[in-house]
Amino acid sequence: MCGIIGILGQTPVAPLLVDALKRLEYRGYDSAGIATLEDGSIERLRAEGKLRNLEAKLAASRKLGRTGIGHTRWATHGAPTERNAHPHATERLAVVHNGIIENFRELRTELEAKGRRFVSDTDTEVVAHLVTVAIEEGLSPHAAVAAVLPRLTGAFALAFVFDGEEDLLIGARRGSPLAIGFGTSEMFLGSDAIALGPFTDEITYLDDGDHVVLTRAGAAIFDESGAAVTRAIVRSQGATYVADKGNHRHFMVKEIHEQPEVVGHTLAHYLDLARGEARAPEGIDFAKVDRLSITACGTAYYAGSVARYWFEQIARLPVDIDIASEFRYREQPLAPGGLSMVISQSGETADTLASLRYARAEGQKIAAVVNVRESTIAREADVVLPLLAGPEIGVASTKAFTAQLAVLAATAIAAGKARGVLSSDAEAHLVRAFSEVPRLMHEALKLDAQIEALARELSKVRHCLYLGRGTSYPIALEGALKLKEISYIHAEGYAAGELKHGPIALIDEEMPVVVIAPHDRLFEKTVSNMQEVAARGGRIILITDKAGRDAAAIDAIETLVLPEMPSSVTPLVYAIPVQLLAYHTAVIMGTDVDQPRNLAKSVTVE
Ligand code: F6R
Repeated sequence: MCGIIGILGQTPVAPLLVDALKRLEYRGYDSAGIATLEDGSIERLRAEGKLRNLEAKLAASRKLGRTGIGHTRWATHGAPTERNAHPHATERLAVVHNGIIENFRELRTELEAKGRRFVSDTDTEVVAHLVTVAIEEGLSPHAAVAAVLPRLTGAFALAFVFDGEEDLLIGARRGSPLAIGFGTSEMFLGSDAIALGPFTDEITYLDDGDHVVLTRAGAAIFDESGAAVTRAIVRSQGATYVADKGNHRHFMVKEIHEQPEVVGHTLAHYLDLARGEARAPEGIDFAKVDRLSITACGTAYYAGSVARYWFEQIARLPVDIDIASEFRYREQPLAPGGLSMVISQSGETADTLASLRYARAEGQKIAAVVNVRESTIAREADVVLPLLAGPEIGVASTKAFTAQLAVLAATAIAAGKARGVLSSDAEAHLVRAFSEVPRLMHEALKLDAQIEALARELSKVRHCLYLGRGTSYPIALEGALKLKEISYIHAEGYAAGELKHGPIALIDEEMPVVVIAPHDRLFEKTVSNMQEVAARGGRIILITDKAGRDAAAIDAIETLVLPEMPSSVTPLVYAIPVQLLAYHTAVIMGTDVDQPRNLAKSVTVE
């Protein structure tokens, strides 16, 4: 969602704040700002739009300071204008905020009645005023923040600097993440380890409800009750990471091309490729699990939707899958002792985190498939199944999706073995099939030039449908999501057999239909659905293999031919052409591929 940085430095901090915001830009990018202390008084610099606008303002400014906070925004309350950009300030302090203050309306009315004047439409500004009022009533900055936090409802991370206080930075978190970085006579606050990367790899993650008082001498941490607490210092893996596109034009295409390596690395972690065995996940006894509940959002939900087929077919384990934003409102009764799995690249998605907490309250064991190991979801889960995908910077998820699929496939094989429904031969057969995936993905990437040419056609349309059956159905949903989120072309995915129940009315000569149809046991049925589309003039783009191309006998506008492969592994490989199709279409249309409009990489609000 939004990204936060705070620095108590030894050198001018303004350029460091802006650099850190660049690394946080994946969290939100509709406006940005910094506040520094200049001879004890607060100076703000804010700009609407991308960070380069703030950078341009900074270039013309001499206000550098040694103490400061910064923010990159994904608007929730108030349009993305300079007036609504963070930091928000009063005569006493400046504050940056990630999350939502749900009771801001009541608080604002109360503060306005006391004569406080608001200048933005944000929920954040109430925090600035509440703390200011408390300071004016005689409290110290720390006591004032501590007194205000219990009055706020919602999920948030906050960082404050105070007028006249060159050696003070206060942070707080409830729901949204916040980390402390330890330097040499310097201290830092940041939304994540990536933000703090160039400064330090010694990090402490605040627990939910904590607040922290930082001076250059160190950190004093307090829990929700106000008691002083200690939290572990960890060495962060994200800290060494420097965002770099290599030779690629966008992070997204770099991450698409990283997939053979990432998936190979992830599979090698979960599968013993030499022995043809899946490693049992530590902490889960699948022999004792008789129902699995999966929750996730967006692309991660589609990974879970593929996994449902795998767990049910390979492990004969019934699966319920829910979109996380709906899960807890369904109030599904969960049998105590059951297993709930959450899937999240960022590990910070608010809806997924809320599902985790619902499942925990229902007595479930929680397994989390996450990329960011220090994330809140990873820390709250009983068992963490890491992705090993490395940081994903492109807002549209690609390598995290296929890494999720790799983890889930390996876990389904391990579950099949533990449940006694998968023979050693069948296990070895599956493990061998998955060990071929990196090579097959490499082959799929060779379709790049053909897909780029096809994207020229696709970039002219306004609507597009994606069809698939079996595990190709979630890939159709994922393909449609990728296309719409980065090219802004309206796209929908359907189960191929569902088309005739309504959506077929949309088919005419203008409508391209991307059909994902490996030559598997469902192929014939998908071909029948394709015939229905062709008979109504729909323009088919067929993604299949050689056997499928020969058997389809259809006049497709383009056929993308992948190598033949066992049907268990097709979702991982067929993901690549749908990602490339979306990518090239968006590039041709000139959209901002890595930071599409209205989106954020990490969605920490409900
Ligand atoms: C789409 C995309 C989103 C995320 C979703 C969940 O390309 O990236 O749909 O998959 O917001 O995010 P995580 O996996 O971080 O929980």
